[in-house]
Amino acid sequence: MTARRGGKGRRESPADAAGGTAGIRINRYLSMCGIASRRKAEELVLAGSVRVNGEVVRDLALRVSPGRDAVEVDGKRVRVVAARLYLVLNKPKDSITTLSDERGRTTVMSMVRARERVYPVGRLDRNTTGVLLLTNDGTFAHRLMHPRFEVPKSYRVSCDRSLAREDLERLRAGVPLEDGRTAPADVALLPGGRGKEIGITIHEGRNRQVRRMFEALGYGVLRLDRVAYGPVTKEGLARGGTRSLTRAEVRALKKLAGYTDDELLAARQE
Ligand code: URA
Repeated sequence: MTARRGGKGRRESPADAAGGTAGIRINRYLSMCGIASRRKAEELVLAGSVRVNGEVVRDLALRVSPGRDAVEVDGKRVRVVAARLYLVLNKPKDSITTLSDERGRTTVMSMVRARERVYPVGRLDRNTTGVLLLTNDGTFAHRLMHPRFEVPKSYRVSCDRSLAREDLERLRAGVPLEDGRTAPADVALLPGGRGKEIGITIHEGRNRQVRRMFEALGYGVLRLDRVAYGPVTKEGLARGGTRSLTRAEVRALKKLAGYTDDELLAARQE
């Protein structure tokens, strides 16, 4: 095997001779594969769960070469995942949340330049503007969208007429829609909006949910802008502009999406 032991009797390579740093320590490699934190990965090695090129390894000083050494955990081959990317786009009007469009309409993907392919987390309607997250981390996207975690999403709604007091209460309590009553939402009239500008935070992500809630009560939605997804806002981003999420934002989103402390630690060490 090309894997190298850090201790006595290891096979020497030119890189080793120059400083002993060829390959990646086995525990770090496993965390780069998204298997576990480095500390948990050491436990897996010591427990005999890890094979390199077919041989069980228990030496924590072992170094492996990605792409060259075949590493298995409990009999399953593991591979280093691509660098994870987390972006926010300030989606403009008249753009669609699909990867490509055979009718030649503008897609959100045409506004994103990234080293790796990324995908939108959920979707916004063609004429909804604002915060759209994109990532290549499938678990992250899946968990953010999972109804169990109730990740909050906030919108500014511009209505065609002033919202009646009782309708504000209805939006808060839940509106019956064809796919069931909506969960309680935070709703407030926005200052200076003459009752037609409303802030609403929902904890679900059904298709066209906000528009349908207002339409069910007899209001037309003139504009819909997502101002926040969890802690992420579009502050300072021009329409059509993107930026990477900060580490703190990714971590806060992961917490909202139910990541355990160990999962957060593993992600930090990748
Ligand atoms: N609710 C809607 O009605 N549309 C969106 O794009 C997002 C939430």
